[in-house]
Amino acid sequence: MQTVKRLYALLLTVAMLAAFGARAAEPALELNLGPVPQRLARQDLLANPALRTVDVPADVAYHRSMQYRALPLTVLLRDVPPDASVQFTATDGFVANIPVKTLLGAGQAWLAIETQDAAWPPLKAGGPSAGPFYLVWLTPEKGAVSPEQWPYQIGKISLAAALATRYPQILPKTSAQTDAVQRGLHVYMVDCASCHPINGGGDAAVGPDLNKPHNPTEYFQEAFLRKLIRDPAAVRTWDKRIMPGFSTDALSNAQLDDLLAYLRQMARQRQ
Ligand code: HEC
Repeated sequence: MQTVKRLYALLLTVAMLAAFGARAAEPALELNLGPVPQRLARQDLLANPALRTVDVPADVAYHRSMQYRALPLTVLLRDVPPDASVQFTATDGFVANIPVKTLLGAGQAWLAIETQDAAWPPLKAGGPSAGPFYLVWLTPEKGAVSPEQWPYQIGKISLAAALATRYPQILPKTSAQTDAVQRGLHVYMVDCASCHPINGGGDAAVGPDLNKPHNPTEYFQEAFLRKLIRDPAAVRTWDKRIMPGFSTDALSNAQLDDLLAYLRQMARQRQ
């Protein structure tokens, strides 16, 4: 009798572990887009009637054309205010803040969902894929979408006030505020803030603060700073290097000038 009971207990434990394991393996997406936070399992997202197969001609994570099962962002953002900003938090700490206007604009944003029967390739040999959830754009060139606005391995999507509203210390303060500095702030928010805080403000901390304790315009010669932003490995390289390079397609020379004007201004008003 005792043995039977033990066997029974063992079987029950095994069954529970198996069930728990299956649940833990099933990816879920946290959504904070309305009054009540939601946690949607991949299966629930795949069951949405708006699900389609989409072709992405120039996929940023995979550097080639890709095809995905995906939901249009318009479905997820149905009830959000048009002037809000949406925060995509990846499991590695990358945080992209993208204005709702951009997400609903001409770039055509879709949430790609990796399915169990058609897993995506690894981003780097032997590593994980861009899944389970990845923001892709069908016509990024029409919506002026930057490569930093393709967050992958997304764990959470939340509504948030604009970055500069939550972190006013990232705003340039000058009496003669030049347009270049303002445009540079915009470049920083689109291309750099997903990894770097500045002046102690920002959602992500994948890379170092770009103003504290010192600003790279102070400790890099300008030519090397430009080179580093264009292609970090051209300045120094090691296995675990994370920062991507920004080619002239992603960041024009004029935008790089603006970005440096903004960084220089921030060095003058460090707090
Ligand atoms: C995907 C994340 C990511 C993005 C986007 C990114 N960086 Fe970085 N950056 C890093 C990380 C991480 C480092 C530390 C070196 C490394 O691991 O590559 C770094 C290093 C740097 C450094 C060197 C700092 C030092 O003191 O060594 C500078 C300067 C820099 N980044 C500027 C920028 C600028 C300007 C942008 C926007 C145009 C940008 N980065 C975008 C992640 C990022």
